[in-house]
Amino acid sequence: MRIPLMSIPRFGFGIKGLDEMLSGGLIEGTVSSIIGAYGTGKTNFAQYYIWQGLIQGQSALYITLEERTSRILGYMENKGWDVSQYLDSTFTIVNLDPSDFNLAINSVKNELPTLIKKTGAHRVVIDPVSLFEDLFHDDATRRREMMRFLESLRDLNCTSLLISEADKTNTFASKYNLIEYLSDTVILLKYARGEDVNDVHLAIEVVKMRMSQHSREVKPFEIHQDSVTVYTEATVF
Ligand SMILES: Nc1ncnc2c1ncn2[C@@H]1O[C@H](COP(=O)(O)OP(=O)(O)OP(=O)(O)O)[C@@H](O)[C@H]1O
Ligand SMILES: [Mg+2]
Repeated sequence: MRIPLMSIPRFGFGIKGLDEMLSGGLIEGTVSSIIGAYGTGKTNFAQYYIWQGLIQGQSALYITLEERTSRILGYMENKGWDVSQYLDSTFTIVNLDPSDFNLAINSVKNELPTLIKKTGAHRVVIDPVSLFEDLFHDDATRRREMMRFLESLRDLNCTSLLISEADKTNTFASKYNLIEYLSDTVILLKYARGEDVNDVHLAIEVVKMRMSQHSREVKPFEIHQDSVTVYTEATVF
C-alpha cells in the first residue's frame, strides 16, 4: 500500500528558516547529507537536528569521528541545552576513531546498524561521514560500500543526517563527489563573498530533496552563541 507523502512525518531542525526551506523537515526514513567546507557550520546544524529530536521525545544517536564526545557535549551545553538529562535514556553519543581502520569500517558497517536497532534511534547523525569514506582504497569499492551502507540506514527506520566535507576545489560537491548522489536530501553550506572581499556571508541551499517540494533559493544564515538564523526574506548578493 502506498502511503500518501503528505502524511509521512518530517524531522525538523528547529531552525525556522531552514525547516521552511525543507517544507517542514527531513522526510522520515530517508538519508540526508549536509555538505560544506570547514567552519561552515555543519556540526552546528547536526546538533540542532539532534536536540530538536530529544526535546520532542525522540531518541538520537550521534556518531562522531572527528571531535571527542566531551567536546560535542560541551558545544551543545554552551548553547544552553541540558543534554545530560537525556544521556542515560534517549541520547547516545559514540566516538569512533577512524585511524583504527578495522575498527572504523567494521563498526560503521556492522555494529552501527545493531546500535541503531538497540537504541531505537529516530535520528542518527554521522559527523563527518567523509572520514568513513576515506577508509576505502578505490572509488568502485567506496561507491559499492556506501550504497549498501545508505540502504541499510533506510531499512532501519531512522532518519539519518550525514555530515560531509566539501571537495577542496569545488565547494558545491562533497569530498568524493558521491554522497550527494546517494542521499535523498542534500543541503549545501558555503561561503558567499560579495564584490567587497571583506563582505563574507554564510549561505545555505537545499539542492536536492527526493519525493518532495523544497525551496531552491540560496539564503544567508548566521551562527550565534545559542541560535542559528536563516534569513529567508533576504537574498545572497
Ligand atoms: N558560539 C558561537 N557563536 C558564534 N559563532 C559560532 C559559535 N560557535 C560556532 N560558531 C561559528 O561556527 C563555525 C564552526 O561551526 P561548525 O563547527 O559547526 O563548522 P563545521 O562545518 O562543522 O567545521 P569543520 O568542518 O571544521 O568540522 C565557527 O567557525 C564560527 O564561525
Ligand atoms: Mg564539524
